[in-house]
Amino acid sequence: MKQKKRSEIICRCNNVSRETIEKAIVDGCDTMNKIFDETTAGVGPCGGSCRRKLAPLLEHYLKHKSFPEKIIEAPRSPNTDDKE
Ligand code: FES
Repeated sequence: MKQKKRSEIICRCNNVSRETIEKAIVDGCDTMNKIFDETTAGVGPCGGSCRRKLAPLLEHYLKHKSFPEKIIEAPRSPNTDDKE
């Protein structure tokens, strides 16, 4: 069987792929807000359910300078990185 290499969609509201998000992080988005601004992921009409995937992706990169093979979703927590 072929390996799945196509980039998964992380933000379904705004159709933002994992590839786009990873590129934004590599290019310097080191906070959730920067990722929102750069990619539009996390700011769709659902209210940001994909942030639970964005956060671990970003954290993993900041710690290890690489991305995890599989994203482990963060538990739901109110106001995570949401400064308004
Ligand atoms: S899925 Fe990303 S904002 Fe709704």
